Amino acid sequence: MLNFQLHMPTRILFGAGETDRIGAEASKWGRKILLVTGRSSTKKTGVLDRVVGSLEGAGLEVILFDRIEPNPRAATIDEGGRLAREERCELIVALGGGSVMDAAKAIATVAISERPIHHYLAGTRLGYWKELLPIHEALPVITIPTLAATGSEANSMAVITNWETKEKASISGSALFPVLAILDPELTYTVPASYTADGCADIFTHLYEGYLTGTGDAHVQDEITEGLMRVVIRFARKVLDEPADYEARASILWASTLALIGVAGAGRGGTFPVHQLEHPLSGHHDISHGRGLAILAPAYFNHVYKDRPERFAQMGRRVFGIKTGNDLQDAEETIRAVENWFREIGVKDSLKNQGIPRDALNRIASDAVRIGGRGQGFIPGIRELREADALAIYE
Ligand code: NZQ
Ligand code: ZN
Repeated sequence: MLNFQLHMPTRILFGAGETDRIGAEASKWGRKILLVTGRSSTKKTGVLDRVVGSLEGAGLEVILFDRIEPNPRAATIDEGGRLAREERCELIVALGGGSVMDAAKAIATVAISERPIHHYLAGTRLGYWKELLPIHEALPVITIPTLAATGSEANSMAVITNWETKEKASISGSALFPVLAILDPELTYTVPASYTADGCADIFTHLYEGYLTGTGDAHVQDEITEGLMRVVIRFARKVLDEPADYEARASILWASTLALIGVAGAGRGGTFPVHQLEHPLSGHHDISHGRGLAILAPAYFNHVYKDRPERFAQMGRRVFGIKTGNDLQDAEETIRAVENWFREIGVKDSLKNQGIPRDALNRIASDAVRIGGRGQGFIPGIRELREADALAIYE
């Protein structure tokens, strides 16, 4: 196990009905709130009214910013940042999926710094990728996830797309840890089957990326990761049959938070090559992040598994119950097992089917290596992925 530092400062309130504590909790941080949400789902489900009611009931003033799109865009962030600053908001409450929570963190940054968010986007043309601006200061953020997927609710990362340049890249900094996350599984009952499944594919990817690419002697982290993978696989099946099953939704929501809060990957030195390959797909073509990951995984696995069959085999044996013989065979069975699970939950898909034509792939591969490689010329992982590797995987 490698040396590591772990910082998990986000306070968590978990359980049915905890949403209604937002008014009392928010009032500890300020009197004027920027409430950030998406364009429609929180209105349709009624949770927006419920949150506004709780905030106003606690005597707080609410400024609503309900313009966040999936794969949130830099221009929207800059607009939200201006609004927070002009209105002198003291706290940001994010109500929505990963896109809304990421947008809230980015708005919290822009509100203080007065710089456009693209100055912070790692690896991009307009961002300062050589000497990335550190994010030391941001408004406090409270997250209330309505979709289980990204783990953004309790981590210090956000992913933003500069739609003018079609560059999707991350920001991070300790100032971005939400001060509080309210995890209420009932809010996720209304997530449609396709986004539920995409979210499960995303959680699963957060788990296997560090596991397959990092050091093999982090045994505590392996057990935690394998346990979380088993939970996601089992309850993804369940929740697609019964969308309002509390036990299943609660299990998936908590797994999504734990998968990317730092604890599963600490001391591994793992990397996120499949994420680096996915971000330009959703950056250029606005597809769902989780779906893009599910499309790429089998191709990525087939590209690299022979370099490290023992890690694939361990995942297959402990997570999917595979036992055919040697490492190489078990690794191949593991790839098939992942594909079968993807097929079962409905995320087995193709770039073509998502509207991404073959002639777009050169530019996407180049962006993947430039942004994901942060100036190194390759995406690190089991194997260093150069542009030709990225292209081969997409194809
Ligand atoms: O747009 P609205 O109206 O809000 O509807 C959303 C959206 O259309 C809908 N939805 C959310 N909760 C719902 C619901 N519909 C019905 N009932 C509910 N309870 O679902 C759609 C997808 O939402 P989105 O927030 O885009 O999905 P997700 O949570 O998967 O977030 C994806 C974004 O997070 C980034 C991705 O790159 C992508 O931009 N990521 C952030 C990470 C982080 N901060 O740590 C890590 C991840 O790897 C990921 O990159
Ligand atoms: Zn992800």
